[in-house]
Amino acid sequence: MPERQLDRAAVVAATQEAAALAFASWREGAAADTHVWDKGKNNPVSDIDMAVDAFLTTKLRAILPEAAWLSEESADDPSRLNARLLWLVDPIDGTTLTSLGRGNALSVIAVSERGSMFNPGPCVYMDKIAVGPEAAHAVDLDWTPTKNLQEVARATKKLVSELTVMILERDRHNDLIAEVRSTGARIRLISDGDIFAAIAAASPEVGVDILFGIGGTPEGVVAAAALKAMGGEIIGRLHARDDAERKAAEDAGYDLNKVLTTDDLISGEDIFFAATGVTDGELLRGVRYDAYGARSHSLVMRSRSGTIRYIDTHHRHDRLAAYSSTDSK
Ligand code: FBP
Repeated sequence: MPERQLDRAAVVAATQEAAALAFASWREGAAADTHVWDKGKNNPVSDIDMAVDAFLTTKLRAILPEAAWLSEESADDPSRLNARLLWLVDPIDGTTLTSLGRGNALSVIAVSERGSMFNPGPCVYMDKIAVGPEAAHAVDLDWTPTKNLQEVARATKKLVSELTVMILERDRHNDLIAEVRSTGARIRLISDGDIFAAIAAASPEVGVDILFGIGGTPEGVVAAAALKAMGGEIIGRLHARDDAERKAAEDAGYDLNKVLTTDDLISGEDIFFAATGVTDGELLRGVRYDAYGARSHSLVMRSRSGTIRYIDTHHRHDRLAAYSSTDSK
């Protein structure tokens, strides 16, 4: 990706504004009035998600007009398959977290070269394992959770009982949770937000060693963008919710037995990733307002250099308004 084409500061600013928009919309007592509906099979989306998605569409298309678009909340555009550059967006990973004032909701953008991101297709869910750099290549979806934990313990020079495993708290994970418990590993159940959980597994400051379990497929691709820059690993296998979804995926040419590596999920070598905290979390603080404006906390990474930056920004609304009504860099 020619560097001059991407205004990285503008991309970071877009996640900051998106996070602020999401946070402010829910904060302003909107929860009661917000229209929340089901995208299908217990997959909630709100008009706040759609507003943030629309905001990012306008903002990011202005930054890089030639890049195609793949967002959890937008209809898929087949022209993206021929585009040289691609935006991958999750306007709010943690809609429910935000609406309930819970931590670790993120607004996330990744941009990569053509064809380098896995097309989620009809399968909403993917079975995933994510780990940090020390345990990269020490996990396999064909192994049992116990064997994965033993290998991760070996790779990280810990005892299995010293490992912490993050898992989405869902009934579908009851057997997984029981098996992990039986190994003596610690479990941290989360109610939502497995992009955060995957990044947490590769972030020593959070104290999580591994993410296990079935979560969103687009979230898996976004997480791969981050883990690539961090040197960690995420592997996934598509999980059909029912026979109709399985057939749709197979008809579209997907192999539901295939284990997708980080490179399968995102193969480009030049990926830029930016996430801003919506609500307070262990990785990023959420948006905060004060007398002058807002503060945001972002995580920014480039896979080519492996650079990881945390950016604490104070947005002075009074001054920004004085020189531009739109530019919040
Ligand atoms: P959204 O906020 O985008 O709805 O996603 C939240 C989330 O928890 C993801 O992080 C996760 O991948 C997915 O939902 C899990 O899906 P489900 O809630 O259906 O189990």
